[in-house]
Amino acid sequence: MYSRRTDRPRRVKSFDSMNSNFEDNQINNEFIKANYMKIEDNKENNSFSQRNRSSVIFSLKNEVGGLVKALKLFQEKHVNLIHIESRKSKRKNSEFEIFLDCDSSREQLSEILQLLQPHVNVISMNSPENSVQEDEMESCQWFPKKISDLDRCSNRVLMYGSDLDADHPGFKDNVYRKRRKYFADVALSYRHGDPIPRIEFTEEEVKTWGTVFRELNKLYPTHACREYLKNLPLLSKYCGYREDNIPQLEDVSRFLKERSGFTIRPVAGYLSPRDFLAGLAFRVFHCTQYVRHSSDPLYTPEPDTCHELLGHIPLLAEPSFAQFSQEIGLASLGASDDAVQKLATCYFFTIEFGLCKQEGKLKVYGAGLLSSISELKHSLSGNAKVKPFDPAVTCNQECIITTFQEVYFFSESFEEAKEKMREFAKTIKRPFGLKYNPYTQSVQILKDTKSITSVVSDLRHELDIVSDALNKMNKQLGV
Ligand SMILES: [Fe+2]
Repeated sequence: MYSRRTDRPRRVKSFDSMNSNFEDNQINNEFIKANYMKIEDNKENNSFSQRNRSSVIFSLKNEVGGLVKALKLFQEKHVNLIHIESRKSKRKNSEFEIFLDCDSSREQLSEILQLLQPHVNVISMNSPENSVQEDEMESCQWFPKKISDLDRCSNRVLMYGSDLDADHPGFKDNVYRKRRKYFADVALSYRHGDPIPRIEFTEEEVKTWGTVFRELNKLYPTHACREYLKNLPLLSKYCGYREDNIPQLEDVSRFLKERSGFTIRPVAGYLSPRDFLAGLAFRVFHCTQYVRHSSDPLYTPEPDTCHELLGHIPLLAEPSFAQFSQEIGLASLGASDDAVQKLATCYFFTIEFGLCKQEGKLKVYGAGLLSSISELKHSLSGNAKVKPFDPAVTCNQECIITTFQEVYFFSESFEEAKEKMREFAKTIKRPFGLKYNPYTQSVQILKDTKSITSVVSDLRHELDIVSDALNKMNKQLGV
C-alpha cells in the first residue's frame, strides 16, 4: 500500500526562513535522526493510513533540551514523527513554535500533549476527526479547478444557442437563424487558450449595434457610475468602440487582461448559473458574440453582444469590480444548488441590475440596466423602488427577465458590496476553503493542514515584501 510518509523529506527544517539556525542550537539531531530512522524501519510494516495522521503546532520555551524532552515522549509512546518544523514565536520572543506531523489518533496526541503540560502551549491541532474527508469532498458537485477546465462546462448552453423559441424576434427569419448557427459553432469550437475568432459583421448587424450605441450614449453621462464613464473612452481608444464598428471580443479580452486580469470566452447562449459563475472564479467572462435581431434594435429577449460590450465590459475593466465579480464566482465553486441559486440572485441584482451612490446621487453599474434604454431611465426616475444591498435579503428577491425589476439594490461602493458578499459567502456551507492562485490560474483547495500551511507561508512572504517596502519608505523619509 502506498504510504506518503516515505516520500516526505526526513529532516528538520525551519518553516520561517528568517530563523533557520534554531535546529542547530536547540535540537539534539541524533534524537531526530533516530525518530526518522524508525519511520524508515517501519516502512514495510506500516499499517497507518492517511487518515491516522495528526498534526499540532505548539510553543515551547527557548531552553536547552526542551524540544528533546518533548520529542522523547512521542518516542516512548511509539508515535512516528513524520515531519518537524520550527520557527521563532512571534507571540512571545522567548519561545519557539514547533509544527509536528505524526501518525497518531487525536486521543493519543491529546494524551501526549497533556503529559507535556505546562512546558508546551498548544496553538492548534489538526487530526483526522477535524480535517476534511475525501467522502465529504466527493459529495460536492464537480467544479473546475483550473482555467482550462472551463472547456468542460462552457458549452452546456441552456437556452437559445442556435435554436430560437417561437416568440424570439428572429424565429421566422431563416437568414438570421443561419447566422446564429454560425455564432454558435464558433463558440462551441472554442477552447481555452485559442484566440477568439474575429467576426466580419454584416452591414445590418453594424446598423443595429449603431442604434443601440448611439441611444445609450445619450444617457450614460447622467446615469452611469463614474467607473463606467472613466473606462468607456478607453474602450473607444483601444478596442474600437464606435457607432459604426462592433468591437472584436479578442481585442476587448486583451484590453481587460491588462486592466483587471479578466479575459473573455465566447459562449453560444445562456449557461446555467453554476457554469456561468464558475467562469467568474477564474476571471473569465462568458460573452455572446451574436447581435440581436434587427427588427427591434432596442429589444432583445436574451443577452447579445451589445449587452455584453456596452453593459458589462466597461465595469469589468475596473479592478475593484473585477475582484467583486470573482469573489461571487469563487463562492459558487462546489457549493450546493441552493447556495448557487442565492449567489446567482445576488449576481443578478448587483452585476446585472445594481445601483450605487456617488456624490449623494444614485448611479447605475448593472449591465442589464446599462444596456437597456427604457429600464436605465426607469431605474433612476424616482419611481423605482430602491433598497440597500444586503445579500441575505437580496438573495431571496425574485429575478424578473420579462419586464422591469420590482426593486433595485444599491451599494455605497464596490468595496462595500464586496465586503458584504464576503460575509455572506462565509455562511455558505462547503466542506473546504478555496484560494485562487493567479500564477497558475487555478484554485487551491484548503482541506488539510498541509494546504493551509502552504497558503500561510505564501502570505508571510507577501507580508515580508510589504514590510520591506515600508521600511525602505521610512528610511527615505528619515522616520
Ligand atoms: Fe449580462
